[in-house]
Amino acid sequence: MQKKRSNAFHKITLAILFFSSFVACEFPVKEMNSTQSIEQKVDSLLALMTLEEKIGQMSQVRHFSDITKNSEIASKFIGSVIHTDGPAPGKGAKGWQEKFIALQKQALSTRLGIPLLIGVDAVHGQNTFDGATIFPHNIGMGATHNEQLVEKAAAITALEAQATGFNWVFSPCVAIPYNEKWGRVYEAFSESTELTEKLTKASVKGHQGNLSEPTTVMATAKHFIGDGATDYGKEGGNTTLGPQEISERLLPPYKTAVAQGIGAIMASFNTLSGKAMHAHKALITDTLKKAMQFDGIVVSDWKGYSRFGKTDVVNAGVDMLMTVDGDLDLFQSEMKTAVDSGVVSIERINDAVKRVLRQKFRLGLFTNPFPDVSLIATIGGEEHRKIARQAVSESMVLLKNNTVLPLSNEIPTIVVVGEHANNTGLQSGGWTLRWQGVQENYKGGTTLLKGIQNAAKGTVIYDEKATEKYSNADVAIVVVGETPYAEFFGDIGDGSGTYQLTLSQKHQEYIDTYKKLGVKVVTVLVSGRPLVVTDQIKQSDAFVAAWLPGSEGDGLADVLFGTADFTGKLPHSWPKSVEDFSGKYGPNFWDTSIKPLYPLGYGLTLKHKKND
Ligand code: BGC
Repeated sequence: MQKKRSNAFHKITLAILFFSSFVACEFPVKEMNSTQSIEQKVDSLLALMTLEEKIGQMSQVRHFSDITKNSEIASKFIGSVIHTDGPAPGKGAKGWQEKFIALQKQALSTRLGIPLLIGVDAVHGQNTFDGATIFPHNIGMGATHNEQLVEKAAAITALEAQATGFNWVFSPCVAIPYNEKWGRVYEAFSESTELTEKLTKASVKGHQGNLSEPTTVMATAKHFIGDGATDYGKEGGNTTLGPQEISERLLPPYKTAVAQGIGAIMASFNTLSGKAMHAHKALITDTLKKAMQFDGIVVSDWKGYSRFGKTDVVNAGVDMLMTVDGDLDLFQSEMKTAVDSGVVSIERINDAVKRVLRQKFRLGLFTNPFPDVSLIATIGGEEHRKIARQAVSESMVLLKNNTVLPLSNEIPTIVVVGEHANNTGLQSGGWTLRWQGVQENYKGGTTLLKGIQNAAKGTVIYDEKATEKYSNADVAIVVVGETPYAEFFGDIGDGSGTYQLTLSQKHQEYIDTYKKLGVKVVTVLVSGRPLVVTDQIKQSDAFVAAWLPGSEGDGLADVLFGTADFTGKLPHSWPKSVEDFSGKYGPNFWDTSIKPLYPLGYGLTLKHKKND
């Protein structure tokens, strides 16, 4: 009884607080009855703002470390909150929503009641939430060449992101990777500009819809520009491409994204011929904003303010600063001084703030700032997983088939080899739950092994470390590949670090073992990029490039057993040797002096049963 009373009391208190938070705001009350256009609303709101409020709108923080108390959202007039490297926010999706609702209420309690943009690195599904549907990383989506599928995957990602409390995602990455040594190759769709344009359009459409629906989010094209074209594939390194190549090969996906109404574009860590992209006024302001007429938000990348020239970054045209790891107070105080002293003009600040407000109006946040609780039931739901499974099977690229595929589901004994076969973390890559990915199973996923077990009627043995015990198996499915990585951690550099252009010795031995035992070998490569596997392809009876498929392992079985045919085509040209990488770029069609093992667009179907 006591408990009930206190609950009722709590509810009434909350209702009063909620109501008074609106009464305290001068702006939303007016705005909600207004018939003004978005541009008029932006102008009238801007006219009411103090410099502190404007600088606040340009500030983006992590909710758990850049601010120590929720009330700082209000006292520092924060414009946006981000979440990355999950999990943490709360108990179940409801707990996540509540976490962000509490922050949103802080923003709404301010004098002008300007709502927060709440962003997340949902780059292949809502990958920061344990139990979400995880799609293949973009390299796999590139292999599908299927824009309808990319659009559906983006719409599901948007929905699951909204269901966990977000209205903004930092996706899609529209880089054009020039070198497989780059640790972020898998975040991009393809080395082909045309394919990237096509899939960018679909991705923006899927994420954003018409922007204001409760199931859609604002998308971000990243990283502007030249992130994937740095010399020797170094994350955040220097890009030496000239203006013509930038315009012909790197800009088109951004033009497509802008034409599709993308809400945000993120500046890149790299320099362009020595100049930091964050401070590149000619490209950010003159090209992107003026010539290409992008009217959304240019957001900085991690700690972009203090890393790339402080006021130069703002003057170059960056509108919102990811003020993490100690940048928040620095940015807010220095920006005030910079405006007072004329180093940054108030016109520049006004332009930045107008862009932020414009997107908040377009998203409908002033009238509908909170996530919809009814969406929670859709997270990781059957319909979503079905689409992800289709994406997995369409992303598989068959590089070789020496009569072994399709496998009959009547085969008496199949042995499945390798730790990657039995671990959803390993099959999903970086940006899965944690920034650097995980190496264990997460909620709701199906391993590749389980998918094979679901499809096969005979015995399926799991031989994790390729012992020599199963010489009587009819076929071995050997799953090898890379362990998860993200960003610079995945750079290959000179090959002396963790990641290599070739398979690890251990994984080469898995294939050797079964080859020597005389068992037919179907090799499945789980990797974020094409690797040099010329010898392993020769040894194998069939070879499948599986990329980083995500949560739906059944999708591999669908093509191995011929329930669906292979339709995936290479989104990158495939290297034949480590020497192919001795120059600045890899063996793609940017460097015609290097002949790849397989060209861009290569991929067999089950009709191919060659004897090579
Ligand atoms: C990455 C971005 C990402 C951001 C926020 C940065 O390190 O480069 O792609 O969106 O972190 O997590």
